[in-house]
Amino acid sequence: MVWTVATMRRTVSLALVLAWGITSTAHAAAPAVAPAARKGPYVQHVSSTSAVVRVELDGPAPVRVAVTPAGDAGVKVSGPDGGADGGAAASASKAFHSVRLDGLHPSTRYSYVVHVGDRALEGVFTTAPPHDTTAPVRFAVYGDNRTDHAAHGALVRAMAMTPADFFLQTGDLVAVGGDPAQWKTFFELEAPLMRERCIFATIGNHELYESSGSEFAQYFGPEGAPAVIPDAGPPEQAYFASTFRWGPARFFLINAMVDYERGPDRAWLEKALADADGEKDLTWRIVALHHGPWSSGPHGENARLHRAGVVELLRRHKVDLVLSGHDHLYERGIVDGMPYVVSGGGGAPLYKVKVPRPYSRKSESVHHFVDAVLTRASLAITVTRADGTVVERCGLPKSGTWDCDPPPAPPPPPPPPPKSTCGCRVAGGPSSPATWLGALVALSAWWARRRRPRD
Ligand SMILES: [Fe+2]
Repeated sequence: MVWTVATMRRTVSLALVLAWGITSTAHAAAPAVAPAARKGPYVQHVSSTSAVVRVELDGPAPVRVAVTPAGDAGVKVSGPDGGADGGAAASASKAFHSVRLDGLHPSTRYSYVVHVGDRALEGVFTTAPPHDTTAPVRFAVYGDNRTDHAAHGALVRAMAMTPADFFLQTGDLVAVGGDPAQWKTFFELEAPLMRERCIFATIGNHELYESSGSEFAQYFGPEGAPAVIPDAGPPEQAYFASTFRWGPARFFLINAMVDYERGPDRAWLEKALADADGEKDLTWRIVALHHGPWSSGPHGENARLHRAGVVELLRRHKVDLVLSGHDHLYERGIVDGMPYVVSGGGGAPLYKVKVPRPYSRKSESVHHFVDAVLTRASLAITVTRADGTVVERCGLPKSGTWDCDPPPAPPPPPPPPPKSTCGCRVAGGPSSPATWLGALVALSAWWARRRRPRD
């Protein structure tokens, strides 16, 4: 092996990472039998230079994370409290760990190992592309997975066969956010998706049932959220809102169940949109939330957003697309130039259209996901049912309107019965000569039987 400078730097970086882990582990007493992973490990908040590895164990134990270095830059591993020594990431008192990785390279595939005692929990992920990329990015939109696990599982299998850089979840991952068993089922069903890719999730109303949203915040929420979200009194911060950049697009994941007339969520949204206004190489602004401003389903329009002027706020900041769920169907439309998609057919019991809206262009009550390919110039979507068949394919040019494939032609009507050239009825018709002839034969036979002498 030739020891170049680059090779030595990579080796030193890896050694530092491992040394950090070993040192941290030494400070905490490891249990005799290392607990197994209850959820994950999986990645969250993947960007072009960082990622967060999360894992929930069966019991408290220290962990250390080793990441395969890439290029000449070392990978810095730190805990949620920051610091070169890892801080709380190696806490022996935790069952749930959230470990941040920095110093990563864009568009690079990494492998990592979460060490728990003698257990090695492995995972991989790929970082986001650079902001100025000209390559297309691909993601899948889905949501409302709760309640029907068979339908949810079928949809996951269909999604797993479709390439995607990441997944965008429109909320209602579980029926009862405070039920640990339902989160366990969710993670088991979603494992094929989460094994290598990140789910960026918006919070749904069901995540708040029997919970203040603490479980959602822990599993999918932004870094820094407290372990228990206070549910009494006015919240001091927007706990469930987050934003991320992926190539030409910035995504805003917002909480649809709060007051946007004032308060921390309004302040957060205004600042996030304003920050994006000056962002370099940003072409697309996409908002995702659970209960959106437009829908023809039984939940309908989110009046809270309209009352608070959120739609006008999004227009002022040139938002290109709104993605939502909550109504368990697929819908696509455009309202005064603002395109929207409702994708809430991720497994929950399906809803039918209740009030067809004039702005709606297409709707179907179906379990489905939306496969989206984004370039600087346009967005292309393919809406696919859980059985793999296609609902529709559409394009959306930047600042344009939907352009979709024509719907499949209806089946041709059955051919008319052949007509006789003589103008008489064809054989087999109700008053055709053949029918009359048959009746005459039957009548003759009956008369012959009557005239036959009886025994
Ligand atoms: Fe919902």
